[in-house]
Amino acid sequence: MNRNQAMDTYLEKLQSIFNEENAKRTKQHSKGKRTAQERLDDLLDSGSWTEFQQFAAGNQDEIEQLNDGVLIGVGTIHGTKVCVFAQDFTVAGGSLGEIHAKKIAWLMDLAADMKAPIIGLNDSGGARIQEGITALEGYGSIFQRNANYSGVIPQISVILGPCAGGAVYSPALTDFIFMVEKTSQMFITGPKVVKVITGTDIAGEDLGGASMHASISGNVHVIAKTETDILQEVRRLICLWKPVKTEEVLAPKGTSLLTLLPTDSRKGYDIKTIIHSLVDQDSFFEVQKKFARNMVIGFARLNGKPIGIISNNPKVMAGCIDMDAADKCARFVRFCDAFNYPLLVLEDVSGFMPGIKQEQGGLIRHGAKIIYAFATATVPRITVILRKAYGGAFVALNSKAIGADFVFAWPGSEVSVMGPEGAASIIYAKEIQKSPNPDQMKQEKISEYRSLYADSYHAANKALIDDIIHPDDTRKRLILAFSLVEKKQRNHPHRKHGNIPL
Ligand code: HXC
Repeated sequence: MNRNQAMDTYLEKLQSIFNEENAKRTKQHSKGKRTAQERLDDLLDSGSWTEFQQFAAGNQDEIEQLNDGVLIGVGTIHGTKVCVFAQDFTVAGGSLGEIHAKKIAWLMDLAADMKAPIIGLNDSGGARIQEGITALEGYGSIFQRNANYSGVIPQISVILGPCAGGAVYSPALTDFIFMVEKTSQMFITGPKVVKVITGTDIAGEDLGGASMHASISGNVHVIAKTETDILQEVRRLICLWKPVKTEEVLAPKGTSLLTLLPTDSRKGYDIKTIIHSLVDQDSFFEVQKKFARNMVIGFARLNGKPIGIISNNPKVMAGCIDMDAADKCARFVRFCDAFNYPLLVLEDVSGFMPGIKQEQGGLIRHGAKIIYAFATATVPRITVILRKAYGGAFVALNSKAIGADFVFAWPGSEVSVMGPEGAASIIYAKEIQKSPNPDQMKQEKISEYRSLYADSYHAANKALIDDIIHPDDTRKRLILAFSLVEKKQRNHPHRKHGNIPL
């Protein structure tokens, strides 16, 4: 073959690769998905992306294209350096083979050295079937890094397509999972296998779609309707982890916090209105919004500094703590503590959820996670009791006894060993029984118990509360209190590691 013929063959080959890539891109777009590069452009600050190892290709003849189904590199998000891998579904379905895995593992090591967050954009058919068990080994090497870098660097997974089988365990080991409605799915076994094994027909979206994981399984932390929207959410979260200068802080719009609490202490209200009225304007980023809605968690800035917020939500299940709420709270506390985000607890809780389902499901073990997480957290941590804090829930949710730096309470709030209704019916049982009008007597005794034992001034008398504060002074008092303990240092007793109840 002369040089001209060789050149023609080369150009023909290039043209055919180009046509094939174009067809695959069109197929990807037709599913409501975009290419890895388009996603990176959305995620990162313009012009900040630098790719590494783009010539690393798979060792199978079938995988001719460069990149081996994954792009790895660094970029910035609002100026913060991040490491990103983006699986490329247009190359062998983004499937993971030996080189693909090596690229991700190398990037994870780099992120750990850089102390930078790592973000994975997942869109993959799973282990590359042609590579067999070397692909499985590749997953193992990633899982090991996910576990070993937990608490070392923040790890974020964004699921933008299929993520099935054992492959789901890498995202599951990361700190936060983001998903897109309708185009991304995560499951251990897909609908076809479920049908064969159990005989049940179920749509992929119901088995492993974003809505299911966000509201039922709790596996997913943030969802959105489109890829563009979800990548913007990732940008918002990364941005919130950075402080802003005090001059740039926008204080919340001036609603009196006093007016936000219902006068009837049994009436529910949405804790988020209180959160928004306390933190810097538009800074609250809620995590796991649709899961265990009786507990609200998220990041925000207070006077420009990022904090983690944990709060009961009396609007849902009267804010009681059930198993899911306990897990949600404990894991969030662990993340904040690992990465030094101070913790603010807004407490309005009548207790742990009573009931057979909860007891049999292991509420004791789940609730213990909250205590363990707070008791071992060394970051600055403050609790504000808004309305009530009873029993074990009072102790568990960042009380002074388990190491809170400050506990404040609003006037009229109640702190006691149990709710006044239950307490009065036990300690005044005889008087209520003997009374000609037991109902009226019971109400009188409940009021008596409230004023004698439950008023938060009693807890303040015993130094379990550091101050009773006016609701409208809360932001000011929190800013001061957090600044006082900003430089606090606590060390754990030496040990290999603790054993959190799992
Ligand atoms: C190699 C794969 C692949 C895989 C997809 N492809 N999955 N190649 N290994 N695991 C290739 C297809 O052959 C095709 O190549 C291209 O990717 C696009 O795939 P399509 O099927 O055309 O796309 P779509 O219709 O959107 O379906 C996507 C899919 C499907 C649902 C992901 O491809 C699929 O079911 N794949 C297999 C999924 C699976 O069972 N994975 C488990 C592997 S075992 P061409 O050349 O035609 O473009 C595993 C264990 C991990 O993952 C354990 C970890 C511990």
